Amino acid sequence: MHKPRNLLITGGAGFIGSHVVQRWVLQHPEVQVVNLDALTYAGNLANLKAVEDASNYTFVRADIRDGEAVAAVLRQHNIDTVIHLAAESHVDRSIDGPMEFLDTNIMGTATLLHACREFWSVDGNGAASGFKGKRFYHVSTDEVYGSLGADGLFVEDTPYDPRSPYSASKAASDHIVRSWHHTYGFPVVLSNCSNNYGAFQFPEKLIPLFIHNIMEECNLPVYGKGVNVRDWLWVEDHAAAIEVICREGQLGETYNIGGENEWRNIDLIRELCRIMDGKLGREKGSSEQLIRFVEDRAGHDMRYAIDASKLSSELGWRPSIKFEEGLERTVDWYLANGDWLEEVTSGAYRDFYERQYGSR
Ligand code: NAD
Ligand code: TYD
Repeated sequence: MHKPRNLLITGGAGFIGSHVVQRWVLQHPEVQVVNLDALTYAGNLANLKAVEDASNYTFVRADIRDGEAVAAVLRQHNIDTVIHLAAESHVDRSIDGPMEFLDTNIMGTATLLHACREFWSVDGNGAASGFKGKRFYHVSTDEVYGSLGADGLFVEDTPYDPRSPYSASKAASDHIVRSWHHTYGFPVVLSNCSNNYGAFQFPEKLIPLFIHNIMEECNLPVYGKGVNVRDWLWVEDHAAAIEVICREGQLGETYNIGGENEWRNIDLIRELCRIMDGKLGREKGSSEQLIRFVEDRAGHDMRYAIDASKLSSELGWRPSIKFEEGLERTVDWYLANGDWLEEVTSGAYRDFYERQYGSR
């Protein structure tokens, strides 16, 4: 069992990262947690109010592409474990502007690996360390496997076939992480997870964007015919899986994480409309009136579905809540956090929104 003492989490001010940070800080006071985040449009310290005063939590604003800044953080905090989540993460933005994705997701990951290898390769006495007690955990996506037809599930050795600039950049970073393991014996674990949902997700991804639009009675832009399928996982279940894999995953191994919870977009959207009509006290069927079928996303992957049996049989992880319950909790969170929505959408993100969908 790996026992982190000084844990660096990258991208901890983002959606999944903020849940991962909260989990480690609040549930493991014996672990010192350092959150390194550049605070792009997607990173927000308001996601971390629950931990900002905790004695085992430190925030450092830095870019993972800045090797000197990363090396200084590793040294200053004597980091023994990294959970790497920092990335550009939204497919539509990667279509709009791919270069930032390649730079952050590929070069940022390589820069982190390089700095960790340098810092970890000698022990306190200058001798070769064999990387004892060290671990680099790379968090990735199921989108690296490409697109499924009506049948089948992604398993850990499904050949990579990424098809968007986002997924290609994540696939490249996965390969680079594995190459450090095979070439240098560098201690890595990886996971590839399906679509997450829950509190603090930036309102650009399907579920929070549509919740926000329904709240404001704006149109719901459904790409194509709405028949694409995604597997949805409650973000706190992802954070729990990450902890198990960080502690108990075998070095060099990859674990798929998924919710066994496939939905066609249009069915999910109708369910969301139904829940929101009820919560907002609106007439039944009124939110569905906002649905607009719009031009399909370029290169839109048809279906993602995960076989997470390796993770459940080897490490005992399973999703904890049903989708209907998670979705309702998510809606409740956004309805109670209108100020947060206002704050995160008021900055540079507005430009992208208007290019993508027109004005609200
Ligand atoms: P997010 O976009 O909400 O957050 C990304 C965070 O990374 C932000 O806080 C941002 O400020 C930070 N960041 C971006 N570029 C940086 C840089 N150059 N240096 C330092 N920090 C930087 O993303 P998310 O949805 O929370 O995803 C987190 C990770 O999980 C990503 O690696 C993503 O590929 C992976 N993932 C996401 C999903 C999902 O459904 N959201 C599913 C599977 C895997
Ligand atoms: P998204 O949340 O962007 O995640 P990903 O593309 O990484 O799976 O999109 C989920 C699905 O919803 C995907 O099939 C695209 C679709 N979608 C829409 O139909 N309209 C939208 O405005 C958005 C953002 C997504």
